[in-house]
Amino acid sequence: MPTDAQPHLPSKIIIDTDPGQDDAVAILLALASPDEIEVLGITTVAGNVGLKQNTKNALKVVELSGKTKTPVYAGCDRPIRRTPVTAEHVHGQSGLDGPDLPDPSIMTRDMHGVDFLIKTLMQEPAKTVTICALGPLTNIAMALVREPAIASRIRQIVLMGGGYFEGGNITPAAEFNIYVDPEAADIVVNCAAPVTMIPLDVTHQALATRQRLAAIKGLGNRTGDAIHAMLTFSERFDLEKYNWNGAPLHDPCVIAYLLQPDMFTGRRINVEIEVASDLTRGMSVADFWGVTDRPANVTFLRTIDSERFFTLLTERIARLP
Ligand code: BDR
Ligand code: CA
Repeated sequence: MPTDAQPHLPSKIIIDTDPGQDDAVAILLALASPDEIEVLGITTVAGNVGLKQNTKNALKVVELSGKTKTPVYAGCDRPIRRTPVTAEHVHGQSGLDGPDLPDPSIMTRDMHGVDFLIKTLMQEPAKTVTICALGPLTNIAMALVREPAIASRIRQIVLMGGGYFEGGNITPAAEFNIYVDPEAADIVVNCAAPVTMIPLDVTHQALATRQRLAAIKGLGNRTGDAIHAMLTFSERFDLEKYNWNGAPLHDPCVIAYLLQPDMFTGRRINVEIEVASDLTRGMSVADFWGVTDRPANVTFLRTIDSERFFTLLTERIARLP
């Protein structure tokens, strides 16, 4: 799945996130890939757990990577309209249960995450900054509403969210990131920037099997150890639910798409977000078969080469302390 021509490497990104074990692995994969990716900043959002804890987790992950100059900005502490929904049942009380990571010594920057998004997108040359969205889309939607001029300046938004063939994971109809803030997701999928969605249909192919986790642990570095501990914790819920031979590794697929888009397939389609119904709140209604004449608004990914994905991840994590 080739992205549009890449003029300059490394490509500049902002990671918007609610870490979350799989978010943490995504952040680490990005920070381990400085030849291709420059992380301008990390913005945090309420999602897997509350904003304060998600932000602390982001700082811990940055510190773990050794790339301590990476700025972290706290963003929105609740969805635009809805009562917050969290996922301690998956991620643990801290949101990042598993490894014993020290309290961070680095601190957040003194700017709201939404202000950082707007400032960066207005300052950097147009079409050079990619937004990687790993949590509910509140910060990104708020930035688009507050400063509509950013939409045409964003290179692309690549988001983990939604599901069509696989249904939902927080309700039968909805995937967690979209369910938590459906109004925000509606704004993002219909904004003027190019949007790529990586739904459950893809991430349910990226299974962290015993063998793949053992390869990461076998690297023998502290980051590999921490990732092994994180994913060994967070997998228990999914293993019981799905009875597969590994738990899906969602958010790192976003970074893998930037690094090696040809390991994915997908197509341009129309996706709309259900915001009215209680029963199907947050459903990503994907016109995959083109049965409406609604215009395509997203690139909807469908498959991943999971062997290549875990090889890439393991090779990159080996580069960190
Ligand atoms: C998404 O929800 C969160 O729990 C994960 O971090 C991922 O972003 C998967 O539905
Ligand atoms: Ca996430």
